[in-house]
Amino acid sequence: MRPGCAAPLVGTLVVPISFAMPNGELGPPAAELLPPHPTLPSLRVAAAGCRACPLWKRGTQTVFGEGSEHAKAIFVGEEPGDEEDRGGRPFIGPAGKLLDRVLADAGIERAKIYVTNAVKHFKWIPRGKRRIHERPNRAEIDACRPWLDAEIALVRPPLIVCLGATAAKSLLGPDFRVTHRRGQLVPSPLARYVMATVHPSAVLRAPDDEARHAAREQLTADLRGVAALIG
Ligand code: URA
Ligand code: SF4
Repeated sequence: MRPGCAAPLVGTLVVPISFAMPNGELGPPAAELLPPHPTLPSLRVAAAGCRACPLWKRGTQTVFGEGSEHAKAIFVGEEPGDEEDRGGRPFIGPAGKLLDRVLADAGIERAKIYVTNAVKHFKWIPRGKRRIHERPNRAEIDACRPWLDAEIALVRPPLIVCLGATAAKSLLGPDFRVTHRRGQLVPSPLARYVMATVHPSAVLRAPDDEARHAAREQLTADLRGVAALIG
């Protein structure tokens, strides 16, 4: 089939999104959906209707952040995965389970933190019956940023932890390199402390046991630093 021509009905799910969704199906920018005096529950409701970037159509639902308004730290991931997309909650799939184990190893109670993502819809491409994760691009990260900013503004935690490159680039700039600066406290107007570390899915994706062990050790060591900061 030529690109851009009408797809047969059975192919609806595999049509590249740029063809499946003309720009006319985009809604107003996220910033225009923010309630005037937001609370976490009212933000969640507003974000559920967001159509500010093409990903709204690909994911099942907006996966908003979760945790206490009084959290000592916000942990920012990349985007919801397959399980998060179905369940509607961040970090409940394999990466989230690993994050829970590493948090426990580092002595951080999940109740003390707020977890969210840089992008709030799951971006995926079909491969057979499976939905394969795709990284969000710069435009999608920027389109979703008002939600993240609003979460940060409400929780106002002393510490923000970027899990992986997408969160770090969203919050610390496109030139930030997690490989060079993981575990360091980075000056930022966003919070007293901002740190980036490896994403738990980097541990899961490691090619062999040695690499997996090393990635997990890095993550655990950085989170011990976090534990020392938030007590
Ligand atoms: N990976 C992320 O970055 N976020 C999630 O919520 C789950 C997996
Ligand atoms: Fe809105 Fe973010 Fe979803 Fe894009 S990914 S539609 S900006 S909530």
